[in-house]
Amino acid sequence: MTKRDGFTSNIGVTLATLGSAVGLGNIWKFPYMTGMNGGASFLIVYVLCTFLVGLPLMVAEILIGRKVKANAITSYKSLSPKGQPWFLIGVSGVLSAFLILAFYSDVAGWVFAYIFKSIVLAFTGPATADSGAVFAELVADPVRSLLWQWFVLIFVGSIIMMGVSKGIEGTVKRLMPVLFVLLIVMGVRSMSLPGASEGLTFLFSPDFSKLSFTAVLMAMGLAFFKLSVGMGIMTTYGSYYRDDQNVPVTTLRVMVADLVVSLLAGIAIFPAVFAFGMAPEAGPSLLFVTIPKVFESMPLGGVFQALFFILTGLAATGAMLSLLEVPVAFATETLGMSRAKGTALTVLLLAAAGAPATLSESVLSDVTIFGLNFFSLYDYMTQNVLLPLGGVAVCVFAGWVWGAEAFRKCLTNNGVLPLEKVANSFLFLLKFVTPVLIMIIMLKGLGIF
Ligand code: PHE
Repeated sequence: MTKRDGFTSNIGVTLATLGSAVGLGNIWKFPYMTGMNGGASFLIVYVLCTFLVGLPLMVAEILIGRKVKANAITSYKSLSPKGQPWFLIGVSGVLSAFLILAFYSDVAGWVFAYIFKSIVLAFTGPATADSGAVFAELVADPVRSLLWQWFVLIFVGSIIMMGVSKGIEGTVKRLMPVLFVLLIVMGVRSMSLPGASEGLTFLFSPDFSKLSFTAVLMAMGLAFFKLSVGMGIMTTYGSYYRDDQNVPVTTLRVMVADLVVSLLAGIAIFPAVFAFGMAPEAGPSLLFVTIPKVFESMPLGGVFQALFFILTGLAATGAMLSLLEVPVAFATETLGMSRAKGTALTVLLLAAAGAPATLSESVLSDVTIFGLNFFSLYDYMTQNVLLPLGGVAVCVFAGWVWGAEAFRKCLTNNGVLPLEKVANSFLFLLKFVTPVLIMIIMLKGLGIF
């Protein structure tokens, strides 16, 4: 048997996991959701959710994957007591990864279109067209938006085909440092604008009167989405972890670094938004309409806009690699396909599933299900329903079914690491705190009680 591919170094493991966490969630969702929900108060709830919900789930999912060393479905199947259907966690994970990638690749397509546009702009000087009209024109053009989505899928697919160590690890190792440098450049630029302090006040001084329960649901959903939990990704990545990796320390590092990236993105965006008198609560179009307007009003705006969208594209790429790896790992290991065939098939299926999301702003704009178009349906179903449900199932499985002894043994690398107390705290959260919190927020946020 050939050796199973996996991550090769400690730093490779950390960067790959961080590469999955960091993405459009930090640069697109986090700023627009924070902007819509009153700034700092949303930020506080979000940070609480990442600690109490995101972190324990991430640890549990990685440990489960590392224990079995298989894709998400097989991992849960092989740890389940006979006859119990816990493999469904893996099934729901593969489905979620698929649905997320279907709309994520659409947004990533816009980002790549904007990179192209901004580079042209950097040479030709500021555009005269209104950025709202430019964005509306892109999403309303079925051919252009589909072609950009396919470009993104093929680009990510070709990296995945190269395998875990060469493809995923090799790419994120180069991409993450560039991303950090670009973010810092953008943050410094934004803060040096006159009138920038209002943006920082918005981001860092809370106003709890603006915090609704829907906002709390959003914050929790964002914590899931951000840390890529509740959907088999961390289990799949965990299966490529090394046996001597310190899982709690790695996850904590990833969580903190991910939060730093979100904050840097907020610092790069809000001061500039306020400095140019724009509204922070524009919603999902903040990145594509408000931000270009900000850049237009700035000296050397074209260059900064190009840098900004390149950094967003890099972030989205690392996340998409992890999303695509989940179904590909299943296709190769469980269905026995070659890596090339499994990837090609998944990309084709994604192009088909992604098309309704991409076309929901153009030819399918009249089609709605539960009042949502396909794009919003995929987004809402995954972030607010499938990921939280997957999360509760992982908590129950890790805390009650798999067993405290096995959990402790895995977390401490068979007793090598002196982390008994840490293991017990995570077990406590997984058994009693995290699932209860998720259920309350989810049911209340969905209006069920
Ligand atoms: N965490 C990624 C982001 O914030 C998105 C993602 C979600 C990636 C779910 C994998 C799984 O953009």
